[in-house]
Amino acid sequence: MNPIAYRKPGQFEETKYEKIHNVVFDSDADASVVVAREIADLIRRKQEEGKPAVLGLATGSSPIKVYDELVRMHREEGLSFKNVITFNLDEYYPMEPDNPNSYHYFMDQYLFNHIDIPRENIHIPDGTVPPEKITEYCMEYEKKIEEAGGIDFQLLGIGRSGHIGFNEPGSHINSRTRLITLAHITRVDAAPAFHGLENVPRKAITMGISTILKARRIVLLAWSKKKAPIIKRTVEGEISSDVPATYLQTHPNTTFVLDREAASKLTRIDTPWIVKDVEWTPHMTKKAVVWLSEKTGLPILKLTDKEYNQNYLSDLIATKGSAYDLNIDVFNRIQHTITGWPGGKPHADDTYRPERAEPARKRVIVFSPHPDDDVISMGGTLDRLIQQGHDVHVAYQVAGYSAVSDEEALKFLEVQMLTGHSSPLTDRLVQELQQKNRPQDSDELKKLKASIRRAEAIAALRYLGVPLNNIHFLDLPFYDAPEIHKRKISPLDVEIMFNIIDLIKPHQIFAAADFADPHGTHQLSFITLQKALERVKEKPYAKDLRVWLYRGAWDEFEIPEIDMTVPMSPDQVLRKRHAIFYHQSQKDIVLFRGDDMREFWMRAEERNKELARKFDKLGLAEYEAMEAFKRYYF
Ligand code: F6R
Repeated sequence: MNPIAYRKPGQFEETKYEKIHNVVFDSDADASVVVAREIADLIRRKQEEGKPAVLGLATGSSPIKVYDELVRMHREEGLSFKNVITFNLDEYYPMEPDNPNSYHYFMDQYLFNHIDIPRENIHIPDGTVPPEKITEYCMEYEKKIEEAGGIDFQLLGIGRSGHIGFNEPGSHINSRTRLITLAHITRVDAAPAFHGLENVPRKAITMGISTILKARRIVLLAWSKKKAPIIKRTVEGEISSDVPATYLQTHPNTTFVLDREAASKLTRIDTPWIVKDVEWTPHMTKKAVVWLSEKTGLPILKLTDKEYNQNYLSDLIATKGSAYDLNIDVFNRIQHTITGWPGGKPHADDTYRPERAEPARKRVIVFSPHPDDDVISMGGTLDRLIQQGHDVHVAYQVAGYSAVSDEEALKFLEVQMLTGHSSPLTDRLVQELQQKNRPQDSDELKKLKASIRRAEAIAALRYLGVPLNNIHFLDLPFYDAPEIHKRKISPLDVEIMFNIIDLIKPHQIFAAADFADPHGTHQLSFITLQKALERVKEKPYAKDLRVWLYRGAWDEFEIPEIDMTVPMSPDQVLRKRHAIFYHQSQKDIVLFRGDDMREFWMRAEERNKELARKFDKLGLAEYEAMEAFKRYYF
């Protein structure tokens, strides 16, 4: 069966809250292949009928793998696009087509340059139309779609604002192609590509909601946890102009294609006991009890049969016997995650501790994607590991130069000049920095910016007591791709990661598993580790190695996922803050902080305090702050 074959939403008990048909895949790569196949089938069917296939296309990160697969099918399977007519959803306004941030450029790069579509069949809203001609231009765009026979297949992404195309909140269901003003959150999401929010256009031309709804088939793609809240609202919420994507509920042939993370907040996945019988595994049990405690506001040990019965969990009670035993079991399991000894407590009984007591002195590698994630995300734990006498190494995976502002770089050059140490290089760099709108930093400037971050990382670790010899700057090459979306992991990246692990032969690895960072650097950094661990697996020291994942500045684990929690006292919180302060280039004028305008130390501190508050509310001991880790089995 075609896994995205249409099935009525809400048809089964399990999907009763869902108003849009959706399918969930293990990965965006698997899902994209299936979507590409549906498009290819349509193109071939139309070819047999001697008709054009009319596609509505989207840009952004979501459809990239679909386009990759279509290009592959063209190259390897002879899929021809000669009969294809395309209409893109949108384009920034104003925008030149040859600007690398334009959607014209994007489409050429990912699709059109690699297939045999006739150029005259391609339509993308023109970001150079003079303002007084826009209305007329937009009406023409609609007319061209109609003349082509209407859209057979419309591919969509979804913005965190709930936009489809660039139909931002407030858009009417009857809206047509027009000029719109971008929502703030949309501009924030686009800011990294434009090197700062101030460079993101404020307007765009977009197909309207009614234009989209006229398509005969619609497939919306959404990947990653970042999209989970908006997917839940769109699929399960009421139709509202506040979330324009909810208008898709009125379309009879729409499928949302999701990866596990994007689907993770749907009722049937997040709280499945509400809609179906579940198997009460230890994890599911813990998840349900924590959910019930949070929902009722009662500490775990005060939950009674009544709360379980009134909140869809009578089956859990029936399976486990009584609320009393169940509460104690889950309470203890969470309690056992808490430890002040993240490297294990020497000579203690470690039956219920997250880490082994032996060897008392462990070799540890903390992998930090950027030079600062270590202290931001696990500064308290790092501090403890060092103070408890472990041999702690910190390995920074990428150079991090792109997050250093020009002003910061200039400051260092000025110090050189003021102390009489300027050189021809200093002059060159000062000149370069004076050039506004340069497309790229030179390698020399990148090196200066990377060195600033190195010096900051060294200072922070000196403060915490890590010797210089234990600090490693890996400068993984994937980070150096000329454009962010062209970053790819190479064997060299994996080799570098493997070599450092093989050199140190650690008992513990700590690594970032925070995939919500704006440039995707954390995700690529983690994948290089995964690949390196595949090789490490064969080594004798692998059996003594435990890998712990931490989350970065953008996100935290849910309590049921956590395997180790390290509490911090108020003094330890201050030490952590102090360590983060050494990363001065990332203070005050952080270039890429997403839509959260707080500085990194504030976010980290509030997140750590929030976690402690959550533990307290569950009825566990009340700490000032906590850092959390999840075990990764390789
Ligand atoms: C792009 C478009 C937008 C994107 C949406 C998601 O042509 O119209 O609606 O689909 O902003 O963007 P990504 O895929 O980058 O998350």
